[in-house]
Amino acid sequence: MKILIVDDETISRTKLEAILEEYGECLAVENGRSAIEAVAAAIRSGAPFHLITMDVAMPGVDGMEALYEIRRLEDSAGLAPEARARIIMITAQSDRDCLITCVQAGCDDYIIKPFNSDKVARRLEALNLTGPAKPSPVKERRAEPAPEGPETDKVAIGRQVLRLFQRGEISLPSPPGIYRKFRQMVEAGASLPRIANLLKEDLAVSFHLISVSNSPFYRGVTDNRTLHQAVGRLGLDLTRKYVDLLGNRAVFTAGNPAYQPLMENLWEHSVACANAAEVIAGLVGLRTDHDPFTLGIMHDVGKMVLIQIVGELEVRGTLGSIVNREDILGTLDVYHGSFGEAVLNQWKFPPEFGLIAKLHDRIEEAADGPEALSLVQLANLAVKSMGYGYDRPLDFDLLETPPARRFNMTPGLIDQLHERITRLMDETEKSLK
Ligand SMILES: [Fe+2]
Ligand SMILES: [Fe+2]
Repeated sequence: MKILIVDDETISRTKLEAILEEYGECLAVENGRSAIEAVAAAIRSGAPFHLITMDVAMPGVDGMEALYEIRRLEDSAGLAPEARARIIMITAQSDRDCLITCVQAGCDDYIIKPFNSDKVARRLEALNLTGPAKPSPVKERRAEPAPEGPETDKVAIGRQVLRLFQRGEISLPSPPGIYRKFRQMVEAGASLPRIANLLKEDLAVSFHLISVSNSPFYRGVTDNRTLHQAVGRLGLDLTRKYVDLLGNRAVFTAGNPAYQPLMENLWEHSVACANAAEVIAGLVGLRTDHDPFTLGIMHDVGKMVLIQIVGELEVRGTLGSIVNREDILGTLDVYHGSFGEAVLNQWKFPPEFGLIAKLHDRIEEAADGPEALSLVQLANLAVKSMGYGYDRPLDFDLLETPPARRFNMTPGLIDQLHERITRLMDETEKSLK
């Protein structure tokens, strides 16, 4: 197998060489320009590269540009699909967003730094580049023809989803019911009776609000029968919270039942994050332009939409027999931030919602972003560390994370936070039953 390694950093170039040597004949170059030249020469000589690893961020011609140019060279040489190079982009965590563009431009997979030989081996395996047997000696492999077989499942799916999305063939779910109007009214300071009138438009929401107001948590001496009574008892803040919950609950459903358990986990995670954002804002005395609960509940909306889309593609049979759900969703993890932003923009949420959807996982670099972003990041991390939406709590030190430092969290505050999230989750669950 002929391999081209493109990376401007000596360390990672040498490391890749050491790892990939085992799989074939490697040529390593330092920039996009040399990569394009090497590919052009290889195509001319009739022995194109089988595999290219391409660093994304390089001075001069960067990885993305080189990727475009290489695919263009292959096009104009009329190379058959199986004769084209498999291109793996190598990227830092902070460049994750440009991966979407890379996938569009025709890369086959990506590796996020730091990497090791295992990670690389898994990617090569997924791309069918290691062959069914153990790697044979280098010399024999050099004569191997270009690998055939399908694109990797993961990348094929990522690409397919993006293509459909761009062509407008995927319709986004509609925004949660009357939710937008409600939010506008609340922000405009409308009175409770007027809000109750609006909520009446949505029977499901009204019905639930009445039963929430009669649940053990809020119950009064007599049962509320009308929405006006219910809203009166709950007050504006709780009404807002429950409209958020109820309006969104309906959207968090997978058309494909196979994906419903995933959706349930995501729902639990989102509600926990919303509660956590509200509690943290209270604990640290933070005032945000938008309701922390709402900011929290929307942060992973991109994941929700992606689960729906993948579920739908599976039902349509577009995914064929290739589905390994964990793999797909792991890969879609990379896209959910940008998707979330697109969805929220389309739903005409204020820009801060989109920003949070996009950047909530990028804790290192967002430390000087808006406080609302750090707030949701901290809420998201806190509920992950408690295990909401996951099989088990994720193990890391919450206090050491950049958003926790930004808000000067202390062990005492974290304890309070945990205790109150647990109570609120219990309350939310019981009152929605
Ligand atoms: Fe997320
Ligand atoms: Fe999250």
